[in-house]
Amino acid sequence: MNILVTGGAGFIGSHTLIELYNAGHTAVVVDNLANSNPAVLQRVAEIIGVKEIPFYKTDIRDREGLERIFSTHRFDACIHFAGLKAVGESVEKPWEYYENNIGGTLTLVEVMRKHGCKNIIFSSSATIYGDPAEIPITENCPKGQCTNPYGWTKSMLEQVLMDIQKADGEWNVVLLRYFNPVGAHPSGRIGENPNGIPNNLMPYITQVAVGKRKELGVFGNDYPTPDGTGVRDYIHVVDLAAAHVAAMRAIERRCGVGIYNIGTGHGYSVLDMVNAFVRVNHVDIPYSIKPRRAGDIATCYCDPAKALSELGWQAHCTIDDMVRDSWNWQRQNPDGYPEE
Ligand code: NAD
Ligand code: UFG
Repeated sequence: MNILVTGGAGFIGSHTLIELYNAGHTAVVVDNLANSNPAVLQRVAEIIGVKEIPFYKTDIRDREGLERIFSTHRFDACIHFAGLKAVGESVEKPWEYYENNIGGTLTLVEVMRKHGCKNIIFSSSATIYGDPAEIPITENCPKGQCTNPYGWTKSMLEQVLMDIQKADGEWNVVLLRYFNPVGAHPSGRIGENPNGIPNNLMPYITQVAVGKRKELGVFGNDYPTPDGTGVRDYIHVVDLAAAHVAAMRAIERRCGVGIYNIGTGHGYSVLDMVNAFVRVNHVDIPYSIKPRRAGDIATCYCDPAKALSELGWQAHCTIDDMVRDSWNWQRQNPDGYPEE
């Protein structure tokens, strides 16, 4: 299939491009580079062994820009990663998050529909469960109260896409609810490259390891978890990328609406991650306990059985693979991608 990948220069999109090409698909990337670097696409092309990945530096809110792309290429489906994703920033800038994530998706869907492309895989998030009503979280767990505008954009966009499919059965909509993506391509050529101070645990750990930050702050050790620190379902980004290939097969089978948790089903605490990183990579990670971070929950991990039974997908990488590959990327690229 020929697939439009919005946000394809980002962390998850770039890894997914590799899995798509390995599975025999082709892709065209649309990204405004708001949170990414074009160097990533050259590296992806090298890993895949192609000259280049077709790329448009275009904002998905730019209707005319999208029109031009859809007039040049015929797409069988879209994998829609493009969006702003910083939880804290979304509290400071709610309008920007709703406008970019919801406005951008509405424009994208409008242009897709006009050009008869009615297949979409959407990057949703475990955050839509809020403080989950059940652990492990199944897809039947009710959606919860999000603690930030970013989470609400995901929750609302799930509803928007389901309603569109309900009104027009030609659509196939797959909502992938990612848990906590970490790791990097084993080559170490591509990986997570946050701007400024990392919000997420793994890039913070790798920046401490490489000497860019003094110590990790562990946000709370008084949660009702085995060691008191927060528990999450970390998933290797290469496994996560492969889930999109499996979801594409569901679209080829005309699945209608499909909703899947994409995690490993294992919960690891903050200290489990730190200890695994130190054990596998032989690098010290100094840390100190800080107060809880506003909006955090104690425990979040999924039951990934539905993705296995319906998509034939499951995660294969271990926690050791995740911490090894995260470090391999950061060690080789201490300052991320080179600036243009
Ligand atoms: P990322 O920031 O690395 O990638 C997103 C890409 O979208 C970036 O390259 C950015 O430049 C681009 N983009 C943003 N707004 C755009 C616009 N209006 N037009 C065109 N391009 C635009 O993030 P990621 O970690 O790769 O996440 C991909 C998707 O998965 C996002 O939708 C994110 O919300 C979702 N998600 C991520 C996580 C996570 O922890 N990384 C967890 C759950 C869901
Ligand atoms: N943590 C620390 N110190 C840090 C960063 C994080 O102790 O410097 C802890 C957090 O308190 C939490 C755990 O590490 O217990 C994981 O935190 P992350 O920020 O890495 O991830 P979250 O689970 O908070 O959220 C992430 C994304 C969300 C997404 C969610 C579910 O940031 O966008 O996973 O997919 F919605």
